[in-house]
Amino acid sequence: MAEAADISEWESVADAWEANRQRVFDFFRTASDWLVEAIGPQPGQVVLDVAAGPGETGFLVAEAVGPEGRVISSDLAPTMVAAARRGADERGLANVECRVMDAQALDLEDDSVDAAISRLGLMLVPDPAAAIGELRRVVRSGGTVAYTVIGAPDQNGWMALLMGALMQNGHQPPTGNPFQLGGPFGLSSPDKNADLLRGAGFVDIEIEQIPGAMTVVDVDDYWDTQSALAGPVKATVERLTAHERTTVRATLVEMITPFEIEGGFALPSQLVAVRAS
Ligand SMILES: C[S@@+](CC[C@H](N)C(=O)[O-])C[C@H]1O[C@@H](n2cnc3c(N)ncnc32)[C@H](O)[C@@H]1O
Repeated sequence: MAEAADISEWESVADAWEANRQRVFDFFRTASDWLVEAIGPQPGQVVLDVAAGPGETGFLVAEAVGPEGRVISSDLAPTMVAAARRGADERGLANVECRVMDAQALDLEDDSVDAAISRLGLMLVPDPAAAIGELRRVVRSGGTVAYTVIGAPDQNGWMALLMGALMQNGHQPPTGNPFQLGGPFGLSSPDKNADLLRGAGFVDIEIEQIPGAMTVVDVDDYWDTQSALAGPVKATVERLTAHERTTVRATLVEMITPFEIEGGFALPSQLVAVRAS
C-alpha cells in the first residue's frame, strides 16, 4: 500500500488556485496544449485528469471528447475538486465528472478510461510508482498516458528561487527534501520517469522538455504568487518571523535579479513532458 498523501497544504491553497485559475493555466498553457495533443482525444472517449487542481487542462479535453465523451477530473484535495466543479459548470461542460481521488489509489475499474493526463501533479505524490501503476491499470490497452512534471531546479527559477531563498536561510519546507520522491523536483530526471513507466509495463515512451517562463511584475508579485499557490512554500513562509522574512526576501532579491526584463521578471520553467502507451 502506498504511503497516504498529506493534502492539508494543498487544501490550504485551493481557494487561491481558484482565484488565480486563469493566470496559473496561462503560466503553463504550453504544457496543457502538449498534453491534449499527446493523447489526441476523440469524440466519445473517456479521459482521466489526475491531480487536476481547478481543472482547466481537463476542460480542454472535455471540449474535444464532446457530449458523448467524459472527463473525470480528479484531485485529492476536496476544495480543488469543488473549484473544478464550479469551473466546469461556468463553462457549461456537462461531460466533466469531478471526483476526490488519490492518484496512488484510483477509485476506478481496470481498463475503464481511454487516456489519462496530469499537469504538474505526479511529482507531488509520495509514491509516484504507485500512481503510474494505477494509470497503467485504469487506462485501456493501447490507450495513452501523458503527464508533465517539473524539470531540473536550475531550469525552473519560478519554483526554485523562493524555495531556494528559504532553504539558504535554514527554512526547510515541511514536506522535506524537495529532491526526494514526493517533492517538487522528485521526478525532474527524464530517466527516472522512463524507469517508472517501464516498471509499470508502459511501452512507446517519449520524453521531451517544454521550456517556458512565469512572468511576474516585481519581487512582491513573485513572493505573493508563489506563497499563495505552492502549498509547502506557503506553510514555510507563514512560519517566518518579520526579521526572517526580511532576510529571506533579501536573498531572493539577489537570486531573482538575473531574470529581470522590462516591466518585471521572466522566471524560466522547463517541464519534463512524458507520453507513453
Ligand atoms: C501543482 S497543482 C497542479 C494542478 C493542475 N493539474 C494544474 O496544472 O493547474 C498539484 C495538484 O496535485 C494535487 N495532489 C497532490 N497530491 C495528490 C495525490 N496524492 N493525489 C491526487 N492529487 C494530488 C493537489 O491537490 C494539487 O491540486
